Amino acid sequence: MTRKIAVVTGGNKGIGFAIVRGLCEKFDGDVYLTSRDVGRGESAVELLKCAGHSLLYHQLDITDQKSVDSFKNHLISKYGGIDLLVNNAAIAFKNDSTEPFGLQARETINVNYFGTLRICESLFPILRQDAKVVNISSALGHLSKIPSIHLKEQFKNKNLSIEELSELMRKFVKDSEEGNNVKEGWGESAYSVSKVGVSALSFVQQRLLNAENPNRNISVNAVHPGYVKTDMTSHKGVFTIEEGARAPLFLSLKSTYKGQFVWKDKKAIEWDGQLPEPY
Ligand SMILES: NC(=O)c1ccc[n+]([C@@H]2O[C@H](COP(=O)([O-])OP(=O)(O)OC[C@H]3O[C@@H](n4cnc5c(N)ncnc54)[C@H](OP(=O)(O)O)[C@@H]3O)[C@@H](O)[C@H]2O)c1
Repeated sequence: MTRKIAVVTGGNKGIGFAIVRGLCEKFDGDVYLTSRDVGRGESAVELLKCAGHSLLYHQLDITDQKSVDSFKNHLISKYGGIDLLVNNAAIAFKNDSTEPFGLQARETINVNYFGTLRICESLFPILRQDAKVVNISSALGHLSKIPSIHLKEQFKNKNLSIEELSELMRKFVKDSEEGNNVKEGWGESAYSVSKVGVSALSFVQQRLLNAENPNRNISVNAVHPGYVKTDMTSHKGVFTIEEGARAPLFLSLKSTYKGQFVWKDKKAIEWDGQLPEPY
């Protein structure tokens, strides 16, 4: 029987690291921890190996096409396909960051939205039967975080294409660089817009995969892991990384959800409904 393969992006620390550890314990197959920095990735692998886990490593920077191609070629030559992709890698500028907002917007959208899209476009052709894709979004990726009704309607469009969604992301960057992000109805958080993009992308991807061939039974879901103590939150979150990994692991291992926005308690919620509190 073909051995199953799981891949986690940004697995060297934080929630991604806890997802890798959880997969090492429960996923029936080979688990890849990937990281943009080889040193940080190998140290994380070493930690898990010392704790008795067995896993594999590959460098992967989701913003670097060469790195993405090299990983894809490695997977194709070694296995031919994958069964689980957890898109965890992301960045967030700190609230007190002094970089101009336009720059923050460009960088955040480049990593969180276009980086996630890049790895999906590369690996979706090698997703196997019954594969699962888990896109780590955020409560801030809930549609209610976009102030403009007009923009909300565009994100919600049932026929939205990936190109149209990418165009929306590019418009946000342009509006931000021109100082018009608030006037144009995007609000003041580049991270939030990037994660709304990731959530919307998940639903479009599910729709396209279903249309292509529903018999492949591939699921794509977006998940809010909770407010977690990691470098991203300057360790101000309320949950441990293990708690933050619970809903992503549920989607990776057990769930039958398809195209859902899943809350930290593993329940699917309305993406365009009311946002539950607290995060
Ligand atoms: N923490 C929270 O409260 C919270 C809440 C909601 C959603 N999330 C989401 O949960 C996920 C994990 O966040 P976290 O809190 O664990 O953050 P974190 O500790 O900052 O970890 C982020 C990970 O992403 C990696 N990364 C960043 N840019 C990358 C790139 N271009 N290519 C590959 N890897 C890259 C980082 O690598 P380096 O070590 O090299 O920087 C790191 O491994 C993110 O998607 C985040 O948006 C977090």
